[in-house]
Amino acid sequence: MRKIDPFSGGYGTSEMSGRERIETELVVVGAGAAGLYSALTAAGLGASVTVISATPLAQTASYWAQGGLAAALGEDDSPQLHLADTERAGRGLVRHAAAEILVNEAPQMIADLQRIRIRFDADSGGDLALGLEGGHSRRRIVHAGGSSTGRRLARQLSAALVRERRVTILEGRRASNLWTEDGRVVGVICEDGLAVRARATVIATGGAAALWQRTTNPPGSVGIGIMLARGAGAAVADLEFVQFHPTAVVGVPGREGFLISEAIRGEGATLLGPDGERFVDELAPRDEVARAIWTQIETDSVDSVSLDMRSVDAGRFPSIDETLRQSGLDPRSDLIPVAPAAHYMMGGVVCDLDGATTVGGLYVVGESACSGLHGANRLASNSLSECIVFGARAARAALDEPATAGGEPPASLPLELPSQATREAMWRSAGLVRDRAGLERLLDDPYPLAALVARCALTREESRGSHWRSDFPALDPALDSMHAVLQGSESAFEHWQ
Ligand code: SIN
Repeated sequence: MRKIDPFSGGYGTSEMSGRERIETELVVVGAGAAGLYSALTAAGLGASVTVISATPLAQTASYWAQGGLAAALGEDDSPQLHLADTERAGRGLVRHAAAEILVNEAPQMIADLQRIRIRFDADSGGDLALGLEGGHSRRRIVHAGGSSTGRRLARQLSAALVRERRVTILEGRRASNLWTEDGRVVGVICEDGLAVRARATVIATGGAAALWQRTTNPPGSVGIGIMLARGAGAAVADLEFVQFHPTAVVGVPGREGFLISEAIRGEGATLLGPDGERFVDELAPRDEVARAIWTQIETDSVDSVSLDMRSVDAGRFPSIDETLRQSGLDPRSDLIPVAPAAHYMMGGVVCDLDGATTVGGLYVVGESACSGLHGANRLASNSLSECIVFGARAARAALDEPATAGGEPPASLPLELPSQATREAMWRSAGLVRDRAGLERLLDDPYPLAALVARCALTREESRGSHWRSDFPALDPALDSMHAVLQGSESAFEHWQ
């Protein structure tokens, strides 16, 4: 054995039988906002942390996030109003206790982020500029660099993390399976055989919206972490709920799926149908706006509707302005062709209010998690806030897990990725509108998560939020607060409060 780490306290790397091995207190899989903030919180508490990131920072979904962080900061606002908006958007499925935590802790979260030198956009008086997005009854979205919030946040969090002495960041290493012993998760095995043993493991690999052919997400968002957790025996839930963002660019070569932030509609941009007329309240919750666009597209057999942002100061959203102009569209004079695209997975690995999954030693944060916070339709910009608020809670809880003595790690497993045929089938059969026949076809898809989405969607025989069944077009009040949970081969509705 070759001990190469200078620190004591159960932290170090070694090689046993030619196999590289790391001992750490916390291992975090994924380096988006939730993973980075969990790692930072744990390091701040003095723990040794190892972060495993398959992709470079610029390929995480957080880095791509254009939205901001929702927090009740305005004088006309309160956590109660934020809670009411979250629950209204979530269509009777938001877990009240999770939403209460988010809205109560979000204002303090902004102050915590400012302390680690994240500079948020200010208004002309020097106060935080508060933006508006769909479903919010008050201005409460905090941005950094307009539509570059995710990029700024991810960069600053990474910079803060690399300053931490007890953090090891393994970039370009891919987790292939979880290391379990006696029904507990005790670490992570990487594709190349590296074994990382820890008192707790945090899954923070983002969602699965890139499983759908038309998506705003980076290609890696195919639910790898969700499948790792399920492989270790964790329950998953609410996979029928994927949010379709209303305004993704369509028909512009090289920019297919490029997101035009809802904040732009918050500043007055309108949606125009093929007849040049408005057809929806642009600031209604996302499920409603996306479905109204889909109806226009289907009814008139067109590929897109138009986003008219000519009245908006495009300079306030520099990354969108620049990208559109590079694509030959000037938002000051041109109408932008848009259509819905898969954007955010409300479902994921079942967890409690501290990110603990149903398996000992295993935690989940960010988009991989399903605490019930977002219900059937996430309120815009609640997700980056979730990454920070629940990322910190999970780190604190995870460090209370007992340390376990080291056995021999299992072998790494080959990683499965979805094919283009799977992505097309998901768009066709689990898109904005689904029915039994299409969903049943997906049950045989070779990518396991596709079949799990279909199982949840078949279980929910109603239409609610982002899940619209043409064969069950009404909401069933008996399914309020009921979550479709999959555990092994069993599926059941569970009531969460
Ligand atoms: C957006 O800016 O429209 C996306 C933000 C989000 O998904 O919350």
